[in-house]
Amino acid sequence: MSEKKPFYITTPIYYPSGNPHIGHCYTTLACDVVARMKRMQGFDVMFLTGTDEHGQKIEKKAQEEGVTPKEYVDVIVENFKKLWSRLGITYDRYIRTTDDYHIESVQKIFKKLYDDGYIYKSSYKGKYCTPCESFWTESQLVDGKCPDCGREVTDAEEEAYFFKLSQFGPRLKELLLDEEKDFLEPKSRVNEMINNFIEPGLQDLCVSRTSFTWGIPVTFDPGHIVYVWVDALSNYITALGYMNETYDDYKKYWPADMHVMAKEIVRFHSLIWPAILMALGEPLPKKIYGHGWITFGAAGGKMSKSAGNVVDPFVLCDRYGVDALRYHLLREMPFGADAPYTNEMMFNRINSDLANDLGNLVSRTVAMAIKYFDGTLPAEKDFNDSDEELLGMASALPAFVSENYESLHISDALAEIFKVISRANKYIDENEPWVLAKDETKKGRLAAVLYNLLDTIRVCTILLSPVMPHVTPEIFKQIGADESCTTWDAASLRHALKADVTVEKGPVLFPRIDTEKELAELDALSPKKDLPSEPLKDVTDFDNFAALDLRAVKVLSCEKVPKSDKLLLFKVDDGFGERQVLSGIAQYYKPEELLGKTLAMIVNLKPRKMMGYESCGMILSVRDGDRFRVVEFDDSIKPGSDIS
Ligand code: MSP
Repeated sequence: MSEKKPFYITTPIYYPSGNPHIGHCYTTLACDVVARMKRMQGFDVMFLTGTDEHGQKIEKKAQEEGVTPKEYVDVIVENFKKLWSRLGITYDRYIRTTDDYHIESVQKIFKKLYDDGYIYKSSYKGKYCTPCESFWTESQLVDGKCPDCGREVTDAEEEAYFFKLSQFGPRLKELLLDEEKDFLEPKSRVNEMINNFIEPGLQDLCVSRTSFTWGIPVTFDPGHIVYVWVDALSNYITALGYMNETYDDYKKYWPADMHVMAKEIVRFHSLIWPAILMALGEPLPKKIYGHGWITFGAAGGKMSKSAGNVVDPFVLCDRYGVDALRYHLLREMPFGADAPYTNEMMFNRINSDLANDLGNLVSRTVAMAIKYFDGTLPAEKDFNDSDEELLGMASALPAFVSENYESLHISDALAEIFKVISRANKYIDENEPWVLAKDETKKGRLAAVLYNLLDTIRVCTILLSPVMPHVTPEIFKQIGADESCTTWDAASLRHALKADVTVEKGPVLFPRIDTEKELAELDALSPKKDLPSEPLKDVTDFDNFAALDLRAVKVLSCEKVPKSDKLLLFKVDDGFGERQVLSGIAQYYKPEELLGKTLAMIVNLKPRKMMGYESCGMILSVRDGDRFRVVEFDDSIKPGSDIS
């Protein structure tokens, strides 16, 4: 058995209703920093992330795309995983709520709560916000609209199961106010929860649905599916093997050390989740952290796909480096507050902190050690009291940084590290190594100054490594720090570098960004309403083009695919016979508008099934602003004519 202490940290499980964006990155990165640090500190870490794949929103999206909900989420989940891998996220487990073991556990949890009298059947009448999948009471609405997203709500009534949330009010209040536990951070959210939800009186929570089917069935009442938040919140324990045989980690890791999320879902985590656990008789998580939002654009607001203001994190990583993006996002967001994102702010941050302060400090120090000592410092050094300020600052860093990383004040921790880096740059100017170098009798002093600098860089680099894990090994290499002095514990040691340390010149750590030029280039890359949105693709062989069979085809019949907002079903004459094809252009055309038209089509694509219909080929259309138009020919073109 391992003797390491367990540490369990979780991100929310994200909705794969669209691809991941920078907002999702922040939470996941923050958890990654804590997980990496705790591993360096010798903990046995379980870092969980995943996707919350059920619910009406996903069902609708899939329908619009003409695929099944599972087919729809499979693609997006891959994109989440790709992004986490690109960002160097070291999660230990990835849970999908469509995983069999999770479904099995949720069904058992629901049944247990029912058997134990915490869930009962009744009928629900209330206001429902479809995008948020939340029921609201009249008094919770803001101007008659959903208090979370501000959208219209509708009257809804259905037979449903209810969870007796109302009876947990006093225990939840006690939990939130317990100063020793400090259950919820930041403190401002505690008041929000108490004043907005507990004091007015908690309502029993509707925990089943019958109005759609994409969810986990209630085993003992067909037609009912488990409310998506009960399904989702349970992930934190099902992923450890609670009520399933797939994993056996519940005893070891539960209760979680920290659940991390943004403010809009604190309500679910600090009220509903503890109440469910209380009803199950299970221990409660130790801490809930609700950080602010990364906002985007002048108007602020949470970044979301529907607002059309998404900055592609893959593009940012490719152009400016993974660690620069990690650093920027983590540095920019003060815990508890919102932080705007702009590319310009990121470039300024990279140039000032990373290129100027850190990058320069390392390259100047290494260059001087090479210039004055051929790269290897002499063992004899002349330290003096004036070194104390810099060394003292470095000694105070590890405790401050550990505490602030762990309490998610990552930005404060980084600011403190960069204060020391700035102080080190100032130390160079104060000690003027270039003057010391001219005097043979000052060699010992010169060696001490350079050694103090290298050792300060070592301490800062250890503490930066959870935030910038890809570049820090390169810094260690350049300053000659071997494994023995780069552990987390070694950050607290003074002068841990070898006395006769040898430095090594290396590549530029953080290239400076030409802000104007990059802004223009990013601008050119971003989708414009009136321009083709796809960037140009790579050059390809003529053979690839020649392999496609492009023909003119005549539309014989055209109708809407039932239950799909996007798809039209065609029968066309391809000059050789009749074929069936689907096209996602129902928003732009009424079926009768296309009847009898001669269109352009790729006829030799492998047949594909969508919404139960086989599609043999693809009708070509061209983007026109924010719509698509079919490519068509006049009547003189015969069906089957080849296009080249
Ligand atoms: N599926 C639920 C969570 C269930 S957890 C049991 C959900 N998913 S979500 O995809 O909407 O993710 C919300 C979370 O993503 C936020 O709480 C936050 O952690 C992260 N963020 C998404 N956009 C964000 C910003 N713009 N800024 C910061 N974090 C954001 O809610």
